[in-house]
Amino acid sequence: MTTPAEIQFKDVDLDALAHAPGKVAVFIGADGKLEAGARKLNTLTRKSLARFVATEAFEKMAIGDLFALTWPAGIEAAAILVVKLGRRPSQQEARKAGAQLAKVQNGADLLVVAGSIAHVDEIALGLALRGYDFDTHKTGEKKPVGGVTFMVAKPEVVAKRAAPMAAIAEGVFFTRDLTNEPANILTTHDFAARLAAMQELGLDVEILEEDDLIKLGMRTLLAVGQGSLSPSKVVVMHWNGGGDDAPFALVGKGVVFDTGGISMKPAAGMEDMTMDMGGAGVVAGVMRTLALRKARANVVGIVGIVENMVSGSATRPGDVVRSMKGDTIEVINTDAEGRMVLADVLWYAQDRFKPKAMINLATLTGAILVALGHENAGVFSNSDDLSAAFIKAAGAEGEGAWRMPMGPAYDDLLKSRIADMKNVGGRYAGSISAAHFLQRFVKPDVPWCHLDIAGVASVKKETALAPAGATGWGVMALNRLIADRYED
Ligand code: BES
Ligand code: MN
Ligand code: ZN
Repeated sequence: MTTPAEIQFKDVDLDALAHAPGKVAVFIGADGKLEAGARKLNTLTRKSLARFVATEAFEKMAIGDLFALTWPAGIEAAAILVVKLGRRPSQQEARKAGAQLAKVQNGADLLVVAGSIAHVDEIALGLALRGYDFDTHKTGEKKPVGGVTFMVAKPEVVAKRAAPMAAIAEGVFFTRDLTNEPANILTTHDFAARLAAMQELGLDVEILEEDDLIKLGMRTLLAVGQGSLSPSKVVVMHWNGGGDDAPFALVGKGVVFDTGGISMKPAAGMEDMTMDMGGAGVVAGVMRTLALRKARANVVGIVGIVENMVSGSATRPGDVVRSMKGDTIEVINTDAEGRMVLADVLWYAQDRFKPKAMINLATLTGAILVALGHENAGVFSNSDDLSAAFIKAAGAEGEGAWRMPMGPAYDDLLKSRIADMKNVGGRYAGSISAAHFLQRFVKPDVPWCHLDIAGVASVKKETALAPAGATGWGVMALNRLIADRYED
């Protein structure tokens, strides 16, 4: 697994600055005032910082921007990284500043002279998250991993506050690794094994194999996977940190590869469908974070892991399948497979665990990209309260989430001539009819959100806290929602 940088917090030691190896970072607010650490570096380097601060280049920097003064005379470090940041940055500014440091660290040792600046833990989180690099499949020399040390006023206090952040970074990295991994590596078997390995962290992990799924009657999930040589699985991860409370349930779509099945996708871009297990990846990342920070909540994470392939045993368009709930589904399009997987997993989650609330995540529709692009996930819900709480948590973490409408007229789009419903609702409002399909498998008294993350799970360009590729969107928002709502 890709692991986040280990970050140390130490007392401020101005005398050490002259001989620090690698790169040294300082924060200077818009007023250009130099704090003790910056003053010391300024003196050592014949006033390089004072001269830089007086330039238009400094003036034009936005908060959180970075400028590297390279090969400064008077100190051993190869660069002074000047980050424009006041003493009381917002959480987002602090994370951005950290991310900028990660982008230029380039394997060097990094000494961050932070002093008594606020939100050092958030700077560290931004640094850790943006430092992600998925290089498992690149041969040749690995990039060196530089050490990161923050010099701060109260190292023990900061280290304590940064500990849950390290749990978050590790959860996000886990999600990104899973989502980036190609489908010949992350097979259904490998995926389940990586989840089972989390038992070491104190999670209960149960793997339901095809025989179990047949017995449970999960026919819609099995119908998606029946064309693949990789067996379908359902994995249940249980974090029991909250006594006898009914659990909060997270459910994820884990299609390790989506060819579209017999209703096959066009060749162009099909390789992106390795990320079609992104919903399950987020569920796994959240469970990892909860275990690492020993959350005081009961949370069950359930993922349906299947591969949607084309073969003689694949489900055909026109097939009618009976769900675990009992409703029958006419398969109009085998590429609308995520909802078939989730139908049975959602039902199973409620049937077995009687959760007090349930959120599912899925790279469910291309239509959500048409509606919201890469900036926001679509939020569909039967509960104003739960959806508002989630959107608030997502906003607080800088993860875009936007509520989408639902209503009976959209549900009518799913009417089938020969079965209880069709698996697609036509060309328009594709994301909404997909949400309605899922809602048919949600009991009315269970507060529920469906998060369509097709646009945000993996992107082609870098984002504020991630390089191009899997983002880990949602791990932080859900972790916060659980902390705010289900922990005392
Ligand atoms: N996995 C796709 C959705 C998707 C598209 C995810 C783009 C990420 C990026 C999903 O299974 C799918 O194929 N949906 C179809 C539904 C249609 C057949 C009703 C779609 O969006 O085209
Ligand atoms: Mn599909
Ligand atoms: Zn899919």
